[in-house]
Amino acid sequence: MTKHILVLPGDGIGPEIVAEAQKVLTRVNDTHNLGLTFEEDLMGGCAIDKHGVPLADETLARARNADAILLGAVGGPKWDKLDRAIRPEKGLLKMRSELVLYANLRPALLYPQLVEASSLKPEVVSGLDILIVRELAGGIYFGEPRGIRTLDNGEREGYNTYKYSESEIERIGRSAFEMARKRNGKLCSVDKANVLEATMLWREVMDRLAPEYPDVELSHMYVDNAAMQLVRAPKQFDVIVTGNMFGDILSDAAAMLTGSIGMLPSASLDKDGRGMYEPCHGSAPDIAGQGIANPLATILSGAMMLRYSLGMPEAAEAIEAAVGKVLDQGYRTADIHTEGTRRVSTSEMGDAVLAALG
Ligand code: IPM
Ligand code: MG
Repeated sequence: MTKHILVLPGDGIGPEIVAEAQKVLTRVNDTHNLGLTFEEDLMGGCAIDKHGVPLADETLARARNADAILLGAVGGPKWDKLDRAIRPEKGLLKMRSELVLYANLRPALLYPQLVEASSLKPEVVSGLDILIVRELAGGIYFGEPRGIRTLDNGEREGYNTYKYSESEIERIGRSAFEMARKRNGKLCSVDKANVLEATMLWREVMDRLAPEYPDVELSHMYVDNAAMQLVRAPKQFDVIVTGNMFGDILSDAAAMLTGSIGMLPSASLDKDGRGMYEPCHGSAPDIAGQGIANPLATILSGAMMLRYSLGMPEAAEAIEAAVGKVLDQGYRTADIHTEGTRRVSTSEMGDAVLAALG
């Protein structure tokens, strides 16, 4: 049976890192006989240049038909001045919302080899293994009404709407409880229930679900405290579940604990486990085209894709083991390079992973 993957390299460093991930996927496709087929398309700034919109209808249709989507990153200064409605990021948000990719899994796993690259002390971070489950298809990112309006006094006002329905909270809550159940059985729901009604309801729904998962220990934390705890004592967390905006922010913080945001993969899943896979980092236009970006987050996103959407856990494990091996061997891109390790380019890192795959 063949599995069809839509590849969207995007902008900035996107094409460079996706090329390496595709190299790795092509290799395991051959060695593990996976029957993967690839098709490439445009999303983001590159799609604006070609079609005038960041996500063309045909591309969205291809995404709907694919078994999984592999994405690089979108955006860059070239498109920042455009009308809000057609910015590169709008393409990504449209994809997430049209395909209802509401469960965004962002694992922050510290490879022991990278302990020195973390900004925190080794004793605070070694052994770190957190999963952030970020709601991705709702909340303030999509709430209406939104906009910038002119008030009667002539002053402009920007406004957004932070809202979550019970069913939206329940479906992401269930994803998170399920994930916690498969890990260490601890789930921390992060909200701002001391101020925001939307998150008061969030907390209420999480509490209502808890008795259905007696093997999971649910706790609650305000987002400001969670940000502090992430840099103070991050190992207290197992799974964190939170809304779209808080998840965006906390996952960047968690990423840095692991040494570099260049190491973090992500999965964005719909209710049937179909999904889009992308590194947590952005398009990094400042280093695009220099061959120095870290492709490991995208390579590891490919592994997540094999595991979560394609039901190919052995191939996923092979890739993850190969990444561990290249780190053991001392290969480091600029972002994770420390004294005594071997600095390599984007494609050299991809080649090292291929070699480690054997
Ligand atoms: C992320 C990114 C996106 C987000 C941007 C590019 C729209 O920061 O995936 O975390 O805010 O969700
Ligand atoms: Mg982000």
